[in-house]
Amino acid sequence: MNYEQIKEKLNQYGQSQLLRFYEELDDAQKATLLDEISRIDFDLIRTDKTQEQPGEISPIEALTLNQIREKEADFRQEGLAAIRNCNVAAVLLAGGQGTRLGLDGPKGTLNVGINRELYIFQCLINNLMDVKKEADAWIPLLIMTSEKNDADTRAFFEAHEYFGYNKDYVFFFVQEMAPSTDFDGKVYLEEKGHISLSPNGNGGWFISLQKAGLLEKIKALGVQWLNVFAVDNVLQRMADPVFVGATIQSGQPIGAKVIRKAAPDEKVGVMCYRDNHPSIVEYYELTDEMMTQKNDKGELAYNFGVILNYLFKLSELERIAGENMPLHIVDKKIPYVDENGNKIKPEEPNGHKFETLVLDMIQMMDGCLVFEVERAKEFAPIKNMHGTDSLDSAREMMQKIGIEL
Ligand code: UTP
Repeated sequence: MNYEQIKEKLNQYGQSQLLRFYEELDDAQKATLLDEISRIDFDLIRTDKTQEQPGEISPIEALTLNQIREKEADFRQEGLAAIRNCNVAAVLLAGGQGTRLGLDGPKGTLNVGINRELYIFQCLINNLMDVKKEADAWIPLLIMTSEKNDADTRAFFEAHEYFGYNKDYVFFFVQEMAPSTDFDGKVYLEEKGHISLSPNGNGGWFISLQKAGLLEKIKALGVQWLNVFAVDNVLQRMADPVFVGATIQSGQPIGAKVIRKAAPDEKVGVMCYRDNHPSIVEYYELTDEMMTQKNDKGELAYNFGVILNYLFKLSELERIAGENMPLHIVDKKIPYVDENGNKIKPEEPNGHKFETLVLDMIQMMDGCLVFEVERAKEFAPIKNMHGTDSLDSAREMMQKIGIEL
């Protein structure tokens, strides 16, 4: 598209602010900006956040800790066999910006140690290493980054020699970006010659992995299951043999690790059925009646919160790869260039990012093994520096289970 065509397109969508500093740019910068703008799908930009999640919600059963213990040896054996056959790969979702944490570098580079250095990435590798030792086999580890943190993430792993992991089994790939806007839907300029782009959420991970040519690679290795997990839970257990074995034996296309809710009104997404498909009901969607509803065992019917640790069957991911996913609008702090050309770094959310989410992939599946884990041992997310789900709370939990900081 040439300048005139772009100008017309922007007028049409009420986005002419993107050419505000065009005349100040040199030829190369002008070409880059026009190229960036021509690639935006302005039809995706919305301002209304109402997410009508249709469908009838009903409770889903979980495999509880007691039930898991009874069959643990059997599950473990099955899981270890799959890991030794290289049927399982781990996928670390590390493309987020961690704006709540306010760190300059990638989230995984945060040092959680107190008297020693212990980085989030290191904690995750240590946990995966436990499985490597038990199975005596390397587990392929795919790391999703974004354009914003890819170079820093790779450099960090190199500088720390992959924390002892075998780098031949580590594969990086970069996720896609989407434009960010102010609250009125106007796309921000990050610099005079660059539009503001942010990672497009954690829901595009499989498509990005495919685009990076990694699907063929992992299939050639024998991978049939992908264990997706978030970077910020330092107690995360990946490729957990018991979970892998239980999911395979269940015959379900996906397994989801869950924790028992601390209270009926705890603000976590909870596993459920939605129109007979496994799904996640957000806490604000639960009516008071559903919140306290009991099942026939006398326990809360909606009692199991998700921790972003899912085991997907690869063939099922390939089946849904072409399907559209819902787009979520999220309030975020977005650095931008104002109308006077000043760079602004906001202290409060000042606009929207558009994201697809991995949790929406669950509803595309026909069934799910809901697998309970112990909160104290497996869930210490670091979203903030202090308070709930923070560096402070994660440190406390790690120390409680004997991890030296
Ligand atoms: P969060 O929803 O916590 O987002 O991500 P975030 O970007 O890390 O943090 P805030 O909200 O800006 O503070 C949950 C998981 O999904 C990954 C994150 O890296 C984290 O592991 N993620 C999120 C991506 O990989 N890509 C994205 O675009 C967004």
